[in-house]
Amino acid sequence: MNVLEENPYILQMDTASFQRISAYISKEYGIKLPESKKPMLQGRLNKKIRSLGMTSYKEFIDYIFSEEGRKRELYNVVDLITTNKTDFYRESAHFHFLTNEFLPRYQSKRGRSPLKIWSSACSTGEEPYTIIIEMEEYKKRHPEFSYNLLASDISIRALQAAYQGIYEQSKISSIPLDIRRTYFLQSKTDPHVFRIKPVYRKKIIYKRINLMEDSFGLLKADYDIIFCRNVLIYFNKLTQEEVIGKLCQHLRPGGLLFLGHSESILGMQLPLKQIKPTLFQKI
Ligand SMILES: C[S@@+](CC[C@H](N)C(=O)[O-])C[C@H]1O[C@@H](n2cnc3c(N)ncnc32)[C@H](O)[C@@H]1O
Repeated sequence: MNVLEENPYILQMDTASFQRISAYISKEYGIKLPESKKPMLQGRLNKKIRSLGMTSYKEFIDYIFSEEGRKRELYNVVDLITTNKTDFYRESAHFHFLTNEFLPRYQSKRGRSPLKIWSSACSTGEEPYTIIIEMEEYKKRHPEFSYNLLASDISIRALQAAYQGIYEQSKISSIPLDIRRTYFLQSKTDPHVFRIKPVYRKKIIYKRINLMEDSFGLLKADYDIIFCRNVLIYFNKLTQEEVIGKLCQHLRPGGLLFLGHSESILGMQLPLKQIKPTLFQKI
């Protein structure tokens, strides 16, 4: 039995409303929402609908697609629909490869200009801050090294959390103590809460970028390293290929593209060569 369907406090989403919203989310943001996701969607949108004083999905959907709703609420809906699960040092082999194998070789060929890195679905910041920690540690061993980091996501709520850089102790417990002490400050009022030190927070440029946009919001630069991990799984195969193709246009020859553990480019026509199962180099 489905708990959501039984619960009288959860509004039931009619088929037409579900189809309108899932078509919109899939077209604008690439995220596929098959019928099986309806209970998830109801669970996530219920509170929002109640808070707006509305009593049906039809009323809500009509509102969010109205001129006023588009300005005021539509981005909140996208925030509620995205899944932001992430971790510090997620798929840690990527970072090990980057700093121990790739960078020493790549830097010697590339010269002294700052390395350009883009975390393109950065969620609440754990991925870009892991990159910062790794780059700062690398810099200690290679003082001439410099870099800059762009972190982007579609979710404003996630970007705000990333910008704040505040994490519960449980989130950072796997990070070695000396690294924690170097990069985090412990809250004075709550010993279980930590914040990335301002000097490191300020190293990241944040931007709201929709990976579905043609030119990624007029992104100009070419990057040496792009992280696009654990977001393509929400897209269909064709959209995945289109997005990776566009990412390749912003990747320098010889640069690296990191995908998530269950993502692949199998069968796609892309200017990439595989280095490890989820790691690709621009040809
Ligand atoms: C599961 S998180 C992955 C975070 C991080 N990359 C990692 O691997 O831990 C997926 C992120 O992709 C973002 N996302 C979903 N669709 C997007 C789109 N069309 N453009 C940009 N970001 C998107 C979500 O908001 C979410 O923060």
